[in-house]
Amino acid sequence: MEKRIVFATGNQNKMTEIRMILEDLGMPIYSMNELHIDTDIVEDGISFEENAEIKARAVARLLPHDIVLADDSGLEIDYLDGAPGIYSSRFAGEDTSYDIKNRIFLDKLEGVPEEERTARFVCAIAAVFPDGNVETVRGTIEGQIAHEIAGENGFGYDPIFYVPEYGCTTAEMDPEKKNALSHRGNALRAMRKIIEEKYKKDEVEDESV
Ligand code: IMP
Repeated sequence: MEKRIVFATGNQNKMTEIRMILEDLGMPIYSMNELHIDTDIVEDGISFEENAEIKARAVARLLPHDIVLADDSGLEIDYLDGAPGIYSSRFAGEDTSYDIKNRIFLDKLEGVPEEERTARFVCAIAAVFPDGNVETVRGTIEGQIAHEIAGENGFGYDPIFYVPEYGCTTAEMDPEKKNALSHRGNALRAMRKIIEEKYKKDEVEDESV
């Protein structure tokens, strides 16, 4: 049976990035929505990895023959002991705009010097394989909380996430540049390697039978 990759997300922007990075594997890639899968998932893990695994396992129960991937991501601000972390999308309420959320963090860091404004985006990706194996990877991008909102690209906390090496926020980068550097891009590239190696090994084992 042809191997398929299913990503447990309904987010089209994520799917574009996922397809760009995983297409080299030569396997068809679907989102959960494209397969009309809808399941209520309670993300009650205490880490990005746990939440990614919870999502991937929930969808894999419905699609036991597919490679099911899921991600969980967020922003960690060192000055705030890693907040908002796994609560990044829930912070100040799911329905609160990012313009407001971003301003809250700028206020919390008002007057805090450069060297204490360090932050990172984190992305964990979990994969559940048809043989029951589970793998997780983590990708990050290091930066700082900016002093003001800047840039129109991206989403979420991008307008306050400043990357010193590039002298701009991730909301001021074009999408290709951000994908090349981002936490999700890094985690996807690490997962691509794991899938590649796993199936290369399985092929060798199949041939030796
Ligand atoms: P989720 O992994 O889709 O649940 O996203 C978690 C939340 O983390 C998002 O809603 C954003 O608040 C934040 N986040 C994750 N990745 C990024 C990013 O690349 N830019 C800006 N915000 C992000």
